[in-house]
Amino acid sequence: MKTDFLVIGSGIAGLTYALKVAQAKPNKKITIITKAVADETNTKYAQGGVAVVNDLAHDSFDQHIQDTLTAGDDLCNKEIVHLVIKEGPERIQEIINWGTQFDKDVQGKYQLGKEGGHSTHRILHHKDVTGKEMERALLEAIKKQSNIQLIHYCFVLDLITQHHLGYLITKSTPNIECYGAYVLNLQTHQIEKIEAAITVLATGGNGQVYRTTTNPSIATGDGVAMAYRAKARIENMEFIQFHPTALYEQGISPCFLITEAVRGDGGILRNKQGDAFMENYDERKDLAPRDIVARAIDNEMKRAGIEHVWLDCKHMDLQKFKQHFPNIYAKCVSIGIDVQKDMIPVAPAAHYSCGGIKTDEWGRTSIQNLYACGECASTGLHGANRLASNSLLEAMVFAHRAYIDSINKFDEANCSSPIGGGQVGAWNAAGTSKPREMILITQSLKELQLLMTDYVGIVRTNERLRRAMRRLDILFEETEELYQKTQVSPQLCELRNLITVGYLIVKSAQFRKESRGLHYNTDYPDKSALVQSIVL
Ligand code: FAD
Ligand code: SIN
Repeated sequence: MKTDFLVIGSGIAGLTYALKVAQAKPNKKITIITKAVADETNTKYAQGGVAVVNDLAHDSFDQHIQDTLTAGDDLCNKEIVHLVIKEGPERIQEIINWGTQFDKDVQGKYQLGKEGGHSTHRILHHKDVTGKEMERALLEAIKKQSNIQLIHYCFVLDLITQHHLGYLITKSTPNIECYGAYVLNLQTHQIEKIEAAITVLATGGNGQVYRTTTNPSIATGDGVAMAYRAKARIENMEFIQFHPTALYEQGISPCFLITEAVRGDGGILRNKQGDAFMENYDERKDLAPRDIVARAIDNEMKRAGIEHVWLDCKHMDLQKFKQHFPNIYAKCVSIGIDVQKDMIPVAPAAHYSCGGIKTDEWGRTSIQNLYACGECASTGLHGANRLASNSLLEAMVFAHRAYIDSINKFDEANCSSPIGGGQVGAWNAAGTSKPREMILITQSLKELQLLMTDYVGIVRTNERLRRAMRRLDILFEETEELYQKTQVSPQLCELRNLITVGYLIVKSAQFRKESRGLHYNTDYPDKSALVQSIVL
């Protein structure tokens, strides 16, 4: 298959990019590939909303910029922070024009929520199902574009580069080029080659590398792993954000999220004794940035030997609660929690990857013709800790920037047929056979998730990281052996990708000889004077 623009991923980043290119280039073909149903994405589960400067009487760009920089613990790229926050309102207006409904008050003004690390109310939301509403509007707009083909149940295996033309490619090879991707069509079980002039990675996060996560099962870091295999630069992988308040249900993952907006509306965290403990950790109490709240909860749980703390909403106005958080209310009712009488058991869970494929201000990766946007990218916005509700915003801003740059590039190069594409061979499956025991893959995945949770969680030490790396080495060897011998399946490829992601997280964590933002190592409890990103 040949296409002009290949977009991998159907979350907010991929859909926004595809829609913009399709509208600007009605004669060009845009292909969106997604490994599950179109809306099974991290985007669909976003609750709190989108942080954006909306109410200039009570907010300002400078305030949002400062909140983002403070949360990011000095590691954000200031230029990127400025441009994302300043371009935010325009991007929001676009998604509203495409049909997204954000909640308004009786006067018709947008209702603005508040979350940790924000100095004021600035979060646009659609009740507590904002992502679902945005995804719906985008998919409906996509359906109207006849030059977009959305192929679901199609798993992208690897990016095609000069490596597939027979050249030896290393990290220091100049001008590595991307010509598209190999995909496993899950309906036909065939491996196909898609040649593209421009390829965009919008593959989302990697929460599945941990035992408990808020991310759905698609979040297996495929984009980061395939970019790393293609020798792209990967950055800041040690900064894994644990959401402080995932609903605690023993043994259940993905976990249901209790949005931070509940604390924004007055919810209070309490420990085993019933004390509101956040005041002992930070003057911003329950609305301190996420790294601080998650570490405080972790500490309270470890001290008391318990598996969760409690979120107290009993004092909150029930009607308002039901109106703003109908999804959470329904979930609580379904498991026998009456929010007016009972406290909600909550614990931190892996939630967001602040690092990823390194891009510049136009979403360009270190590989030619390859862009990245959304959660799989590391743009410089989040630094060492993402400010709540900044990721949907970042995805929209960088989908737009990647669209601008890539259509210019497309026009300049007049590259309607992919460079080098014709000579790229079919996928080589020689020497592989059907897997004899799928259970080996499941077992390895469990081992991986357990080791990452036990040794590379909220609090790290040198010894824990060393242990993690030794165990990852074994898993890597076993999985590579299986991969060489076995016909590819999504399960095997996801395991392989997650092991790569685990390796990148641990390696970056080992390189960072300090504690900053989401990376806390008790062997280096302080910040170092040298502020730098770790690039692998
Ligand atoms: P996603 O929406 O995750 O989409 C990834 C796409 O890539 C999917 O279509 C997937 O199938 C596809 N894909 C992946 N690998 C492959 C492959 N190998 N082959 C083919 N397709 C592939 N952020 C906020 O700003 N505000 C919030 O309120 C908020 N709440 C959140 C609540 C939850 C429970 C979660 C999990 C996240 C939340 N976030 C929030 C974070 C935010 O939702 C995500 O960062 C964002 O939606 C990511 O969008 P994306 O387009 O990059 O990726
Ligand atoms: C939440 O609603 O608490 C999640 C917001 C986010 O991850 O940005």
